[in-house]
Amino acid sequence: MKVAVLGAAGGIGQALALLLKTQLPAGSQLSLYDIAPVTPGVAVDLSHIPTAVEVKGFAGEDPTPALVGADVVLISAGVARKPGMDRSDLFNINAGIVRNLIEKVAATCPKALIGVITNPVNTTVAIAAEVLKKAGVYDKNRLFGVTTLDVIRSETFIAELKGLNVADVKVNVIGGHSGVTILPLLSQVEGVSFSDEEVAAMTTRIQNAGTEVVEAKAGGGSATLSMGQAACRFGLSLVRGLQGEANVVECAYVDGGSEHADFFAQPVLLGKNGVEKVLPYGEVSEFEANARDAMLDTLKADIKLGVEFVK
Ligand code: NAI
Repeated sequence: MKVAVLGAAGGIGQALALLLKTQLPAGSQLSLYDIAPVTPGVAVDLSHIPTAVEVKGFAGEDPTPALVGADVVLISAGVARKPGMDRSDLFNINAGIVRNLIEKVAATCPKALIGVITNPVNTTVAIAAEVLKKAGVYDKNRLFGVTTLDVIRSETFIAELKGLNVADVKVNVIGGHSGVTILPLLSQVEGVSFSDEEVAAMTTRIQNAGTEVVEAKAGGGSATLSMGQAACRFGLSLVRGLQGEANVVECAYVDGGSEHADFFAQPVLLGKNGVEKVLPYGEVSEFEANARDAMLDTLKADIKLGVEFVK
């Protein structure tokens, strides 16, 4: 398996690369690319860790050498939030970065599974899809918006609130990846019940968890270490699916034929071709159904922005 990380010298990229170096299956290759000149050095640094994962680093304007033969491409290239910004403020810079990188993916490794981390994810995934369509290589089963951070935050916060072993907490998070479009399905969490007040407070906390980090870092960026962990979990799940492991399920923002929007985050079964099956997200409470319906205008507008950007 060859995994490429684009944006690999950044806060997320370096954390992700470290986790992948230590956790990818033996014999894998890790390919790091960033415009930052330090990137080959990041690869040399990681290469001193004694695991059977080969690491190579590439810098400069062209990601092509890093993409040759990639099975999985994880993209965290772009700018991150500062206090007072929301994810849509990143659009002006990150839209062009994602478009240019996806053009190279389309030309170099069109069969790779692509995980887009760069915000605003609701929009950058739509951009990626349009670029891949233009290049004639779009396969909706191979493109993912990485929403795993919302899932791990939900698991962590619920376990904390209810005094549970976090390893036992499973939560579906549906919708998108910003503000009200992030919808944790708390009513489905096994073995716990929440009061109405707890549901409202917990939902808001999960939706605003990114801002919690942005404010705590006070101008030093947004979530990088927890996102590195989330992206590693998602990337390893993609690899496990590609290797034929059964029952690999993650929530992700996909073009999955949802009745709600062209892209929607929900559980997907992963396999040798990416999305094996989009799974139903199950029964929802009245609170969740209302929150889902109320987010759709925002989500659809975010998607439209991406489609129009490429046109
Ligand atoms: P960062 O600023 O630490 O790193 C970004 C890296 O991208 C830098 O090393 C920069 O040199 C590189 N870069 C910029 N343009 C590039 C290009 N054209 N090609 C290759 N590399 C390029 O930012 P950080 O904290 O790593 O965040 C990266 C992105 O991830 C941001 O857009 C952020 O909003 C997003 N993010 C997404 C989350 C999610 O849940 N999906 C969670 C947290 C952040």
